[in-house]
Amino acid sequence: EKAGYKHFMQKEIYEQPRAITDTIRGKYSLDDGMVYLTELEAIEDRLKVIERIQIVACGTSWHAGLVGKFLIEKFAKIPVEVDIASEYRYRNPIVDGKVLFIPISQSGETADTLAALRLAKSMGAVVVSICNVIGSSITRESDGTIYTHAGPEIGVASTKAFTTQLATLYLLGIYLAQLKGTLDKDERLRYIDALIKVPEDISSVLTLDEKIEELAKKFKESRNFLYLGRNINYPVALEGALKLKEISYIHAEGYPAGEMKHGPIALIDKNMPVFFIATDSHIYEKTLSNIEEVKARDGVVIAVATEGNNEILKKADYVIYVKKTVEETSIFTTTVVAQFFAYHCATLLGLDVDQPRNLAKSVTVE
Ligand code: F6R
Repeated sequence: EKAGYKHFMQKEIYEQPRAITDTIRGKYSLDDGMVYLTELEAIEDRLKVIERIQIVACGTSWHAGLVGKFLIEKFAKIPVEVDIASEYRYRNPIVDGKVLFIPISQSGETADTLAALRLAKSMGAVVVSICNVIGSSITRESDGTIYTHAGPEIGVASTKAFTTQLATLYLLGIYLAQLKGTLDKDERLRYIDALIKVPEDISSVLTLDEKIEELAKKFKESRNFLYLGRNINYPVALEGALKLKEISYIHAEGYPAGEMKHGPIALIDKNMPVFFIATDSHIYEKTLSNIEEVKARDGVVIAVATEGNNEILKKADYVIYVKKTVEETSIFTTTVVAQFFAYHCATLLGLDVDQPRNLAKSVTVE
């Protein structure tokens, strides 16, 4: 079952290049630089007139939604709100026929996400779900579904489901850009090309497994952790923190790096490790200043940075290098580093990563 791997989670981390290849297969053309989502053909006319998007999900799928906001707003210039399903369903969301409602769910059975879908649909929204389970409740109630092809995810901590959700949102962003005419052919080709390289980018991170295990040995006894990132990598910080808490039971918080000085900086001392996502981006210099602020207060810094960045070696205590990609696909490499780090902290502590305490794979009750 585990095909030679020690845990399902480990197997599923390693399956990500394959899972992403399967998820994007047949959905783009390099000849015309177009994304094809034939599953949305029947509702294309409704999608052409949407003015706003609401993404709703729980947990890791919500983090994917937060990344989706960056991608869709950047590519298609449509305003996107992202909500946690249990919040959305009990407030009074403003919905009409010009809203595209996107529930994201690995299982397709999450009770709060399903309830939020029903609410939005009853108010006239077009519903396009992103889901990993064919025929699940959420897909049955949607107007259209884009399936992630992660394959069954057994480990309770979501890994390949998350990265395939990211790949799907990326495709959806380009598709919506085509409907709205917001990206020209060259731009689309550039982004599609970057996405095609993602399986290879992730494979290169898989070779860092042992290196990240060595790092985890140094940190597994920590009781607290901060994860900081900016922009598209801020949700990756949230996801890294969630992975660490759910399987290693180490308390971790994710924050946008720029928020640090508005509170969390008070926590920094020599016992507070900070995991920075500091890959090359238009905002890298700002993140570097945040690293300096942590170091000035004796915090311990682990930085995930882009290959070739030597300067950061002088600032951070530990650096994990990932391949250079365009900013929009850096989320894949940085996510996998964070997955490995949590996985190793937990297994080194002797914990059951596939079935962490108190957690269920599918949350079908409120
Ligand atoms: C975390 C995790 C959960 C799920 C959440 C939503 O690793 O797996 O946070 O992401 O329960 O589940 P789905 O995506 O099935 O709706």
